[in-house]
Amino acid sequence: MGTYAVTGSASGIGAAGAAALTAAGHTVIGVDLRDADVIADLGTADGRATAVEGVLAACGGVLDGVAAVAGVGPNAPDAAAVVSIDYFGPVALLDGLRPALERSGAGRAVVIGSNSATTVPLIDDRLVELALAGDEDAAREHARAAQSAMPREVLDMAPSIAAYASSKFALARWVRRTAVAPEWARRGVLLNAIAPGAVLTPLMLGSTGATDRPDADEFPTPMPLGVFGRPEDIAFWIHQFLKPEARYTTGAVLYVDGGTDAAIRPDAQ
Ligand code: NAI
Repeated sequence: MGTYAVTGSASGIGAAGAAALTAAGHTVIGVDLRDADVIADLGTADGRATAVEGVLAACGGVLDGVAAVAGVGPNAPDAAAVVSIDYFGPVALLDGLRPALERSGAGRAVVIGSNSATTVPLIDDRLVELALAGDEDAAREHARAAQSAMPREVLDMAPSIAAYASSKFALARWVRRTAVAPEWARRGVLLNAIAPGAVLTPLMLGSTGATDRPDADEFPTPMPLGVFGRPEDIAFWIHQFLKPEARYTTGAVLYVDGGTDAAIRPDAQ
């Protein structure tokens, strides 16, 4: 049985991912702002260092897998915080834990992105560039300035939608670039991303103002399957990506979104 770290383990998709791993007999080290083995704020450099140290102490320096799930959504009020939590959080955590994954001999990492990266037409190229360059201060400043220039109707709908979609876009690109770097690929540490669509969690319900039983056919994006995802639907794939047997997939971005991305971009591959 293995040892796995899961961020965002206190709620929603992260909690379901941790439950799937625990049910399979593994040891799970949960990381979150509350109700977790390691309490840390992944939105700050200090918090990320605390998270890495805490996980390394709990696993004894050898880790079989990491699921970087923690995040906030497009309705978070501060675009700068969205960039810090949703992009710089998982990147720093995975960079910090990569050596422990290498020591396992079959290290696996999976990151939760979003289909917003390909379905929301508000990708901010400059923000993506600053994030991928690792310049958090400049990325935060840019995100705030871009947010304040957004039309009122967009801000009323989801104040950080552009920062959110752009952070998840940058994260998917970081996964694809990093997965094939020799220090990951040639050392047997596989890195993939999942791009969920609308999943019934506190984050999603909070961003739409919906009840806990919203109607998929009234959702603003196409929902070909006619239903919302459940946290368990994403946890299933988290578990698959983290298995040692998943040994020939790296740099993939898997849409687990009920067909939304395919409906919006049928000819993209
Ligand atoms: P959730 O709100 O149920 O869970 C998110 C968890 O992340 C919470 O336990 C929260 O405390 C933790 N978290 C937030 N900020 C943190 C910080 N600064 N440091 C440490 N932990 C922090 O939300 P959900 O839906 O389970 O979200 C999980 C991931 O899935 C997020 O990255 C989100 O962007 C992504 N996602 C969710 C979708 C949805 O429809 N629910 C769709 C696409 C992506």
